[in-house]
This record gives sequence, structure tokens and C-alpha cells, in this order.
Amino acid sequence: MKPVRKAVLPVAGLGTRVLPGTKVTPKELLNVVDRPILSYIIAEGRAAGIEHFVFVTGRSKGAIEDYFDHQVELEAQLQAKGKLDILAELLGELPRPGEMSFVRQMAPLGLGHAVWCARDIIGDEPFAVMLPDMVMSAAKAPLAQAIEAYNQKGGNIVVVEPCPEGQAHQYGIVALDNPSGRLNRMTGMVEKPAKGTEPSNLFISGRYILQPEIFGLLAEQGKGAGGEIQLTDSMLTLLKRQDFHALEYEGVTYDCGDKLGLLRANIALALARPEMEADVRAMMRDLLG
Ligand code: G1P
Repeated sequence: MKPVRKAVLPVAGLGTRVLPGTKVTPKELLNVVDRPILSYIIAEGRAAGIEHFVFVTGRSKGAIEDYFDHQVELEAQLQAKGKLDILAELLGELPRPGEMSFVRQMAPLGLGHAVWCARDIIGDEPFAVMLPDMVMSAAKAPLAQAIEAYNQKGGNIVVVEPCPEGQAHQYGIVALDNPSGRLNRMTGMVEKPAKGTEPSNLFISGRYILQPEIFGLLAEQGKGAGGEIQLTDSMLTLLKRQDFHALEYEGVTYDCGDKLGLLRANIALALARPEMEADVRAMMRDLLG
């Protein structure tokens, strides 16, 4: 079985749910506490053993590339002022030479099309997809949990979690074969099901392990839900030929593409920092009167 070494990060989306904040700043660079959303995603990928990150970017997303490069003046200033802790943190964010690739999705044709844009860089090996909107907090990196499931079952793995009441129509929803425990064989999936037609209460939450055969299917994939080329539709075709397992991971997800989700992530992840917890609690008490 080939190991999972590369991850695709689709970052071409417009971030319409958090405009105007995302007018000039890519939503993936919005801060959660003191670092951009992408910093959490890359840390998760590295903790799962990912060696190469492929960003599928779009116009006005150039700042993402800049974030993962030296800022020579700033670094020199921090050095001169002796702010060595911050400097070390900044340098820790940088990729190893060649650890990241950037490819443009030139038109917003959907998640399936974005993943397809990475095909030449991924090549003929299994790979991860990480949706950067979804910041996941867990004792063990959620992508590492997915890779563990992949090492056990092979095929394709889709990370899922219970869907908040009444919101299934906003997500991809999986169908399972006689579920028991957290890792179950999938029998189907549907993107943005009409209300009341969802096959389970488990939604696809943003981490996948996929086989490279998905690329041939994506190349042929027509438009699906919302008039977009959907990854879920090609996965459903692949499921007729290869195994798919859904993993209910252990941890908490924050949808940072959404105002309330972003706010929640900021508060929750600040509370999780030992040096900030007491101050955040005091601030919350004060705000709540
Ligand atoms: C995408 C996927 C969907 C998944 C969701 C998670 O949808 O197509 O299956 O449940 O991400 O956020 P989007 O959020 O791009 O509409």
C-alpha cells in the first residue's frame, strides 16, 4: 500500500460568508487567536506526516504564498530588537524548501474541479484533501486519525461527524452499511441533500484520503449541486469500484468560513491556551455582565 505523503488544500474560495473581511485578505489567512487559519491546517498536516502541501489558489490569493516565505525586513527588525521568541515562531511557520506547491484554479467551478487542478503534482499515489475552512481541535491530529484508518482499511477514507440539527442540506452526507463504532464502510453519499432526504446524520467534515483514480472521474464530472463540479459526485462513482470508509474522528470542528464559527474558534482556542485561559474567562464574564 502506498503511503499518504501529499495533501491538497483548496484555497480559491471567495469567503463570501465572512465579507467584507475577506475582500483583500484571503479567508484562510484570517486570524484565530494570533495565527492564520492555515497555520493550524499545516500543523495538523505535518503532525499526520504530510511531506508536501499543494495549494489550489485563485486570483487575489497571492498573500498565501507570501505568508509561507521569508519577510526579510520584519525578521531583521525582530532580530535587531532581540524579539527572538517571536522570530523563532515566525521561522517555524516556514516550509522546508520544496514542501509547498501552488497551482491556480482559474475559474470558481467547484471543489471537485479545484482538487482536479492538483492532479499533475499529486501523480499516481493516494493523497489527502484538507478543507481549510474546517479547523479541527483534537488530542491526535484528525488527519493522522484518517491516515491510521487508511493504514487499516486501504481504499478511500472520508472524515465525518454528526450534523447539527436541520443543517444537512448545507453539506455532503454519507450513507453507511450497518454502522457500529467510528469506522464504517460507506454505501453512498450525497452533496447538499434536499431537506428530509439525507441518508444519515453524518456530514463530510473536510478531511479525505483519496486514491488517484479520482482524477480521471473528476475530468469527466458534470456539474452537480449548486451548478458546481462536486468532489462528492466523483467519489460516489469511485465507490462503485473501490472501498470507501467513513471515520467519525475524535475531536471538535470549527467552521471558520462562517462568522459565528470563526468567533467560536477564537474563543475556544484561546481558552485552550494555558497562558490565556484565565484572562479570557474574566473577559467573558465581564462581557456577559
Ligand atoms: C464542501 C463539500 C461538502 C462538505 C463541506 C464541509 O462543501 O462539498 O461535502 O460537507 O465542504 O465544509 P462547501 O462547504 O464547499 O459547500
